Amino acid sequence: MSSTLADNLNLDTRRRFLGMSAAFFSAIGAAMMVIPIFQYLWPRQESAGEGGARSMKFPAGEVPIGDAKFIRFLNKPAVVIRPNEQELVALSVVCTHLGCVVKWDEKSNELRCPCHGARFDTSGTVLGGPAPAPLPSFSARIEDEYIIIEEV
Ligand code: FES
Repeated sequence: MSSTLADNLNLDTRRRFLGMSAAFFSAIGAAMMVIPIFQYLWPRQESAGEGGARSMKFPAGEVPIGDAKFIRFLNKPAVVIRPNEQELVALSVVCTHLGCVVKWDEKSNELRCPCHGARFDTSGTVLGGPAPAPLPSFSARIEDEYIIIEEV
């Protein structure tokens, strides 16, 4: 049985289609491996927005003792923490390692970076992980039932 020209064209077209499909799916597979590596190396940072004022004021009741309130201050994410009745701290929450936003962990009384595991105490001091420096702090005080945060 001899093959016709139409059969040869059909076979050639199928081979080309399979080759292109393999290349397409290989490219998708490579992208799926490379994108997480880039996200790890250059984590997303909060974009600048509201909160660029040099000071801010809000009712003290918004931060109960033992709790924290996330704010935007100087166009960056920040947190106000009242670890106990005497202490009040305001810190940047931009991790000093690669700029991820750290989260407040109420149970351990620490700020923890979800990206690479840096840990900070309530004064911003590095407790562990790859962060090279403490979290920058701001001046924070309570005056007439209001919390006032100012640039240091
Ligand atoms: S960005 Fe790497 S530990 Fe926070």
